[in-house]
Amino acid sequence: MNEENRQGMKIPVHIAIIMDGNGRWAKRRGMPRTFGHTQGAKVVEQILEDADHMGVKYLTVYAFSTENWSRPQTEVKALMNLLRRYMKTSLAKCAKNNVRIRVIGDKSMLDEDLQASIANLEQETASNTGIGFQIAINYGGRDEIVRAVRRAAGQGLLDEIDKIDESVLDSCLDTAGIPDPDLLIRTCGEQRISNFLLWQLAYSEMYFTPKAWPEFNREELLKAIDAYNHRERRYGGLTNE
Ligand code: IPE
Ligand code: IPE
Ligand code: MG
Repeated sequence: MNEENRQGMKIPVHIAIIMDGNGRWAKRRGMPRTFGHTQGAKVVEQILEDADHMGVKYLTVYAFSTENWSRPQTEVKALMNLLRRYMKTSLAKCAKNNVRIRVIGDKSMLDEDLQASIANLEQETASNTGIGFQIAINYGGRDEIVRAVRRAAGQGLLDEIDKIDESVLDSCLDTAGIPDPDLLIRTCGEQRISNFLLWQLAYSEMYFTPKAWPEFNREELLKAIDAYNHRERRYGGLTNE
């Protein structure tokens, strides 16, 4: 898609991505699965920059699910090491590009040094005013809802039954304060949610592409946004035609 066709395109405020297919992409090339993850990590950095330039305000990516612990130990370790490296090296880039980082998911299960780098990165970027970048690590949508209910109960927000509403739960989710995704992208052909953002995706538009995550790029992102532009969002109502 050329620049001209992009004129007047509606840019989603929040894009969420299930970055899938790293392993299959690597295997197809006769490489180990972890090579796919390394390649995938580079793509995340590029897409964050591209999305920012296009005017996207929030980008949320699924990096490691609560179910991914069931993979072989060596793969889990490689993924954690990649995340570790990312948390260490991205600070300078975030400062330069004004990116605000938030990690969503249950961080208490991560190694302490990783937790510390995450906390540091979140703190150091908290006052940045550019794109909000959420990374889901040890994240499960059901787990997030359970933790939100616990958090709400701990704050006494469930004491009066009549006062429990969607906004109470919303404010206790890991994504509190962030608008729901307008567009969900999943790469590499699977058409399922795999426990991602179950609450927040209630009215998101879904876009599935056969491209594996390591081959996703700016052009593919523009295709997804173009498809989004052809969707009619009704939110249960009727159109005015
Ligand atoms: C996505 O790629 C990355 C993570 C889930 C961590 P996969 O590792 O799921 O790759 P495939 O789907 O097996 O090809
Ligand atoms: C979803 O991908 C999780 C991430 C992208 C981090 P999976 O590869 O784990 O999902 P399934 O197993 O195909 O549903
Ligand atoms: Mg997968």
